[in-house]
Amino acid sequence: IYRYEDYRETADWLLNHTEHRPKVAIICGSGLGGLADLLEDKIVFPYNDIPGFPTSTVPGHAGQLVFGKLQGRQCVCMQGRFHFYEGYNIYTVTYPVRVFFLLGVETLIVTNAAGGLNPSFNVGDMMLIRDHINMPGFAGQNPLCGHNDDRFGVRFPCMSDAYDRELSALAKETAEEQGCSTFLQQGVYCMLAGPTFETIAECRVLQLLGADAVGMSTVPEVVVARHCGLRVLGLSLITNKVVTDYASEERANHEEVLETTRLRTQDLQRFISHLVAKI
Ligand code: 6GU
Repeated sequence: IYRYEDYRETADWLLNHTEHRPKVAIICGSGLGGLADLLEDKIVFPYNDIPGFPTSTVPGHAGQLVFGKLQGRQCVCMQGRFHFYEGYNIYTVTYPVRVFFLLGVETLIVTNAAGGLNPSFNVGDMMLIRDHINMPGFAGQNPLCGHNDDRFGVRFPCMSDAYDRELSALAKETAEEQGCSTFLQQGVYCMLAGPTFETIAECRVLQLLGADAVGMSTVPEVVVARHCGLRVLGLSLITNKVVTDYASEERANHEEVLETTRLRTQDLQRFISHLVAKI
């Protein structure tokens, strides 16, 4: 568990090492890190070089903060996030979000790859997150557990407006303009801790609960972002459809997830860049 001074030190170090003053932070999900490569006037900080920042261990994952301009807008991108299933505790998973807040960021865009629970969704659809189900939170894994520091936010933050309606409207408008609206959906994202994919019975439970997509990230970051007053936009790429039928021969697997992100990576990058331009 961290103290205010820990986040402050990390933020101050970054502020001393770059002249960028981003108002928008983007957390790039699995296979969606290509967005950070699009930034202009880039300055890149590997996580392991940033004092106090969690260190990243997964080979093949970039693991760096990229500051730069997207469509003329100053942004900071996380290329590679920290997942609970990697063994990071829930406070470490969300560490970067408080650093963003202390950098002066006002808007957080989070992306992820997710399994489609809603039968009307297609593989390759983008889902604007309207709401979430914090399943680890049900089980006592909420990143706001512990002493509350009022410098970040209140003890009992409201979550009924977690996903900003204005930003959602802007996203829909952008999807129209960019020819993405044929595959833009909206729905409820449910986070499970992972790393296992869901059983058939679990998928059925999640559908009964009203979830449209399931994944292993995003919710802790959103909870911490809302606590400190950041505006949030969440976007899931539906990389596969979950299996809900014992007769099915289909099996959830990471290769399919990565294959779909490759397929949509251009569309997603174009969509998010044009969205950022409007924020
Ligand atoms: Cl099917 N489940 C979970 N938990 N995460 C995913 C996924 C499925 N597909 C992509 N990410």
